[in-house]
Amino acid sequence: MSGQGFRPVRDSGERIMVAIDGVEHEVPVGMSVLAALLCADAVADGRVIPPDWFCGIGQCQRCRVRINGREAAACQTPARPGDVIETRENWSG
Ligand code: FES
Repeated sequence: MSGQGFRPVRDSGERIMVAIDGVEHEVPVGMSVLAALLCADAVADGRVIPPDWFCGIGQCQRCRVRINGREAAACQTPARPGDVIETRENWSG
């Protein structure tokens, strides 16, 4: 199924660069910011702590992060090249 609102589950192999908590990371194309955070190479070694999340559909708001300086639900925001993402662990105010 590929209608509007659906994103591919399979990793296409294409990557974009985003900054997560001040460090550049390569993440798969076409994913939400939440999925990108969960897939980021730095999660495995503990350099990135992904936000807490529950619903994945924009209702619980547990996944809120800052994206390019604006607070947003990570599960409802597509990751775009050059995004600057700040997790709650690194909010400074
Ligand atoms: S996980 Fe519930 S709003 Fe994102």
